[in-house]
Amino acid sequence: MDLGSLEGPLLVFGGPYSNLQATQAVRAQADRLGIPPERCICTGDVVAYCGDAAATVAEIRDWGCLVIAGNCEKQLAAHALDCGCGFDEGTTCDLLSAGWYAHANAQVDGPMRDWMAGLPDWIVFEHAGQKCCVIHGGARDIARFLWPVTPDELLLDELSILPKGTTRVIAGHSGIAFQKSIGPADWLNAGVIGMPAHDGRTQTRFGLIHPDGRFEICLLDYPSDQAAMTMERVGLSQGYHTSLRTGWWPSEDVLPEELRRV
Ligand SMILES: [Fe+2]
Repeated sequence: MDLGSLEGPLLVFGGPYSNLQATQAVRAQADRLGIPPERCICTGDVVAYCGDAAATVAEIRDWGCLVIAGNCEKQLAAHALDCGCGFDEGTTCDLLSAGWYAHANAQVDGPMRDWMAGLPDWIVFEHAGQKCCVIHGGARDIARFLWPVTPDELLLDELSILPKGTTRVIAGHSGIAFQKSIGPADWLNAGVIGMPAHDGRTQTRFGLIHPDGRFEICLLDYPSDQAAMTMERVGLSQGYHTSLRTGWWPSEDVLPEELRRV
C-alpha cells in the first residue's frame, strides 16, 4: 500500500496481541495528541497472547487506523493451526503458543478472517524527507525476529529487497522497540502495545514520529491488571498473564543471549 506523502506527527505501534485495554489506551493517546487514524499505523499481530481477540479486532477496525498483516493475521486468515512464528519444537514459546493461538482461532469469525486476508504486507510513504517502509518482522520472512543486537549485515540484507531508496524501515513482531542506523537507512521497531518489553515495567511501548522525522519510543500506561484478569477468566493462565503484571516474559527462549536476564 502506497500512502504517498504524509505530513504531521505519526503514531506507530505493533502487537495489540488481543489486549483490548492496551488498544483502547493507545487509541486514546492518539486522540489526546490529535493524530487522526490515517496517520496511526499498526505493524501487525492485532491478535495474539491476550484474552480479547475479537473485541480487539473490532476496536482496531472501529478506530480505522492503518494496519499491515502480521504473521498472526496471515495464519488466521489461512485457517492455519499455529501462529507461524516458527518456534523450535518443545520450547516454552512453542508450548505456550498452542494455548493462546487456539483461543484466538476460536474467537475470530469469518468476516474478521476476510479483513485480515485483505491487509497489506507493507505500507510505503514519504515523511519528513524520509522514504519509509512499514513491515512486520523481516522483509524476506514475515516472522523473522530482528533485534537491536542483530548484525548490521543481516538488516542491510533485509533492506536490499525493500523498495529502492528506502531510508527508514518501521518494523514490529519481535516485541522490543529500538532505533538503529544501518548506513543508508534507519531501522526502527515501534515495539508492541500488548505485552511489556521484558524489562520489569508493566507499561508497553509505542512510537511517535515527529513532524521533523525524529523517532521517539513512548511508554503506554493502561490497566494491565484488567487485561491479566481477562486472560485468567478465559483460561489463558499459562504464563503471559503474569507478564502483564510483572513486565517480564515467561520465557527467554526467543531472545538473543545479549538481551536475556541471565
Ligand atoms: Fe508477529
